[in-house]
Amino acid sequence: MDMLSFTDQVDTIRTAFSYINRFKGHTFVIKIVSSLFSHPLFPLLIKDIVLLHKMGIRIVLIPGARERINEILKTYNIKCRTVDNIRITPAEAMPFIKMAGFDVSNKLMTFLAENNTSAIIGNWVKARSIGVVKGIDFQSSGTVEKLKVEIVEKMLDEGLIPIFPNIGWSTTGKPYNISSNELAFTVSRDLHASKLFFITNFDGVTARDLKIPEGVYINNDNHITQLTAPQARNLLDLNKKKEKSKEYELINVAFNACINGVDRVHIINGSIEGMLIKEIFSNRGLGTMIYNDPHENIRSASFADISDIIRIMRPAIADGILVPRTSEDVAEKIDDYVIYEVDGTPHACGALHIYNDEQAEIAGIAVDNTYSSLGIGKKIINFLLDKAIKHKLKQIFVLTTQTSDWFVGLGFKRDEVSVLPQEKQKQYNKDRNSLIFTYTIDSVRKKRHYSVE
Ligand SMILES: CC(C)(COP(=O)(O)OP(=O)(O)OC[C@H]1O[C@@H](n2cnc3c(N)ncnc32)[C@H](O)[C@@H]1OP(=O)(O)O)[C@@H](O)C(=O)NCCC(=O)NCCS
Repeated sequence: MDMLSFTDQVDTIRTAFSYINRFKGHTFVIKIVSSLFSHPLFPLLIKDIVLLHKMGIRIVLIPGARERINEILKTYNIKCRTVDNIRITPAEAMPFIKMAGFDVSNKLMTFLAENNTSAIIGNWVKARSIGVVKGIDFQSSGTVEKLKVEIVEKMLDEGLIPIFPNIGWSTTGKPYNISSNELAFTVSRDLHASKLFFITNFDGVTARDLKIPEGVYINNDNHITQLTAPQARNLLDLNKKKEKSKEYELINVAFNACINGVDRVHIINGSIEGMLIKEIFSNRGLGTMIYNDPHENIRSASFADISDIIRIMRPAIADGILVPRTSEDVAEKIDDYVIYEVDGTPHACGALHIYNDEQAEIAGIAVDNTYSSLGIGKKIINFLLDKAIKHKLKQIFVLTTQTSDWFVGLGFKRDEVSVLPQEKQKQYNKDRNSLIFTYTIDSVRKKRHYSVE
């Protein structure tokens, strides 16, 4: 072997080791389209999944069932209409759809058994009927209501691979045909997965028929290699006319997964050997990746940002949600402030005021109205909590009048004025009567970097 290829190999091994360390204990949710099951390279894909599992990655599998359902319904000559990409499922089709859903799940289980890996198929999805929408009765087509997260977590702790068929059950035990894409979204969100894979039979999202937002990179094959969550949102907005295409649906699911805490969503072609492994263990994405860089677009503020900070806070100050601040107030503590910006324009801000070796206050959180509900507020809180971790602080507090539920959703707990630093207690405005919430930085958060529980 010449020296160059030897060095290449060593580099590859080093990169692989660093990724193994990074993903050990993380959850990957993998949805695989059923048409791949008969592909000659499918057993190799399963071997790669087993390898990831052996490395300590928690794997959850969701077999797509669409093609298998089509086959079975055709065999038994049952016709189903599709509206808005959803199959209307008559009651008489349901036994066949269950048959198809469990058939593809069993196939996956068999492939895993051949690789000496234990898997389990279960009824962990509570579903409800889609019902009648715009006059159309979707009959036994359902939507995911809830996942039995604790049971699934236990199985993952035991080292099993849970397999989710595309069936959900109502509280009375009625089965519903549910979308495996929706299932993949819910499972990845509720299990706090760091990655969600859509293993398909095409090479990611092609740019050919889409309007592409500025700044999105297209490769030589005319494919979109990566999209940040805000870029994905822009792409969806620009291409509403394409909303029935499978690519649009996947970007939509991926975008929603990202803003709900999944770090990365990968759309890759499973009929190419080693695609899954290459996608994970190299810096170069090979399909389309939609990602959520938790600290993307967030930076420390400077004096030049003061007018923007005041502008962003103004509506919340006018509504009495934030305490009024002057430019001088902000300038005095400018090093505490951070900014979220898009294309050079600040759209959100927040601050971490450190009081002593253990305590700091999160304050001045505000998001531009036009950018609300995109997870930006949560990102700023995460950024500030990470900053607090770097300063080895133990307790973060906020004073709030109208935003308590939002902070509770991010893991803050109601507390007493007496827990505040003495200096803050003296400044406490009894007339304003703010509620106190605290966030304790524990060992779990130190380990799990970005997820606010
Ligand atoms: C609160 C705030 C920072 C959230 O920012 P954001 O980027 O929109 O937040 P996220 O995207 O992370 O979360 C959005 C969710 O929070 C919810 N939310 C927003 N304000 C809320 C409030 N006051 N109470 C409870 N939930 C709230 C939204 O309805 C949305 O819910 P959904 O995901 O179910 O649609 C923003 O609404 C804001 O600037 N509010 C005014 C200032 C403020 O309240 N600051 C905190 C003072 S202590």
